[in-house]
Amino acid sequence: MGTNSNNSWDSNLYDDKISFVSKLGKDVVTLLDPQPNEKILDLGCGTGDLSNEIMRSGAIPLGIDYADSMIEKARQKFPNITFQVENGETFRVANQFDAVFSNAALHWMTKPSKVAESVWLALRDGGRFVAEFGGKGNVQTITKAVKEVVSASGANVSETNLWYYPSIGEYACLLEKQGFCVLYAIHFDRPTQLEDGENGMRHWLNMFAGAFFTQLSENQKSQAYSIIEEKLRPKLFKNGNWFADYVRIRIKALKECSPCRHVS
Ligand code: BEZ
Repeated sequence: MGTNSNNSWDSNLYDDKISFVSKLGKDVVTLLDPQPNEKILDLGCGTGDLSNEIMRSGAIPLGIDYADSMIEKARQKFPNITFQVENGETFRVANQFDAVFSNAALHWMTKPSKVAESVWLALRDGGRFVAEFGGKGNVQTITKAVKEVVSASGANVSETNLWYYPSIGEYACLLEKQGFCVLYAIHFDRPTQLEDGENGMRHWLNMFAGAFFTQLSENQKSQAYSIIEEKLRPKLFKNGNWFADYVRIRIKALKECSPCRHVS
């Protein structure tokens, strides 16, 4: 996924209980609008479901992800697609792409200007960058509860910041500084139903929030999960399901910009 340590991602849990990520990402593929024979880089491809969606449109995807476990699973699931382990902040490509696509991955990359530079270099002139990821305010209810409960067990997590969640203005400026022309940007709340009813929040914590719990024993962690759930239940549990308080940024930007070229 992002630039967190390579091997800590559980690709089976991701496919079994976190499949909403790629299901919701299909809308982002619609915004990408892949065309037959276009070469498209899927940045932070996870286990490859959206790379496969891109291929179904006739385009030629290359999926990259920093997690070996994700790439291994993607290769097993989709042997006809090329997948590579790459760091999203520093990757370089030999041949440029028509588009770079990214779903639910950029918030793991905490050096966003390096990502923007890598994406820029990966695109041909006129190529497009289409992405969705966590925006300002993303999972703040969950994060606050996790930090409160883990701190109360004596662990120090006040400085644990795993994610980059910019405002729309901040992110559009960052892309413009790199030279992109931002054509479309939206910042919106998307409460996201987690899978497996009552167990949904635990699956989410296991999949994504492990770094907050490293100082706790298994027993302490299990107790912490129960307390977190009780804190979150009034706000995030409805009709038998958990909803993560996701906030998204969805953006489309061009390398080269005919509207901008004609200004001045
Ligand atoms: C997200 O997609 O917004 C997200 C996923 C895992 C951890 C944090 C945020």
